[in-house]
Amino acid sequence: MTQNVGIVGWGKFLPPNVVSNFDLVSMGIDTSDEWIVERTGIKSRRIAPADMSTSDMAFEAAKIALERSGKATSEIDLVIVATTSPDYIGFPSTASILQNRLGLRTVGAFDLSAACSGFGYALATGTQFVQNRTCRNVLVVGADSLSKLVNWSDRGSCILFGDGAGAVVLSATQEPGVIASDLHADGSEGSILMIKGGGTRKPLSDQVVADKEHLIFMEGRSVFKVAVNTVVNSLLETLGKIGKVPDDIDQLVLHQANSRIIQYVGEKLGLPDSKVFSNIATYGNTSAASIPIAIDEAVECGRIRPGDLVATIGFGAGFTWATNIIRWGV
Ligand code: COA
Repeated sequence: MTQNVGIVGWGKFLPPNVVSNFDLVSMGIDTSDEWIVERTGIKSRRIAPADMSTSDMAFEAAKIALERSGKATSEIDLVIVATTSPDYIGFPSTASILQNRLGLRTVGAFDLSAACSGFGYALATGTQFVQNRTCRNVLVVGADSLSKLVNWSDRGSCILFGDGAGAVVLSATQEPGVIASDLHADGSEGSILMIKGGGTRKPLSDQVVADKEHLIFMEGRSVFKVAVNTVVNSLLETLGKIGKVPDDIDQLVLHQANSRIIQYVGEKLGLPDSKVFSNIATYGNTSAASIPIAIDEAVECGRIRPGDLVATIGFGAGFTWATNIIRWGV
């Protein structure tokens, strides 16, 4: 028999170094605060120092989530880290590094790669393990340091991203918590947001580095279009499966990629601003970390309260998108 699953602990970590749009201009990037704010809504982002890796940020967020959950480390049966900026290319996984630093037993630990949709995929995956009683508690982390993978000479993309980590603990609950999930990918749109070199298709070489193909390449307009065309349908379909409509949503937590995308989706769903969470102005796009960071802040500032119906939607490279509908129970 399956059991209900809910989020019983949450936490976030942002590196202390604040980089404003004005700082980017001072760094020599051919842009302006006005352009960035108007096109994206971003005013600043956090950038991890050179010696801070993705697992360092994941560790800080996970510690807080574990403490809030009240679970002992011995009660965690699985660690999933959603990231596309792992500490090491290939192995060991960031999840294994995190498991060791947290002092967990030799429980399963793996990275999940779905770019900015990663947390949505990981939340849905972790939920299955608790729901079918394979695990008692699962630690799910979204963490990315895309500042280390952006092409700082490409003003069309480098202005968007920031670093950070968010974590949740999933456990069996009396009432349903994560009540519906919807995962999608459209590989035919893979080329609009990608890192072309450094993998097995085009191994790292002097030429790859010279051409900056080991860094993020993005066709901004195409990404924008695919994102707005996919997330609204996914949300409507997922709500429909559980007999709900947009009006039932108490808080929409969309991946923080661009304030215009957030506004468009909110309007399409007919939601007032008070039901559409946004912190993009302060953190930019933190990739897989954006949704758990936003959940943490929304709870802390009272935008998510016990009993609320929370809709989360991530979207990003792949192209991928993932919706999770959660009844907030804590
Ligand atoms: N500062 C100043 N000008 C800039 C700029 C910057 N940072 N970046 C691009 N421009 C210029 C371009 O060179 C272009 O100039 P031109 O008209 O003289 O050629 C002009 O602004 C318009 O460029 P364009 O790329 O068409 O702008 P846009 O309105 O599409 O906005 C994005 C660019 C990236 C902000 C927008 O496309 C976007 O947010 N897309 C989604 C990206 C995303 O969410 N990615 C992550 C998904 S997880």
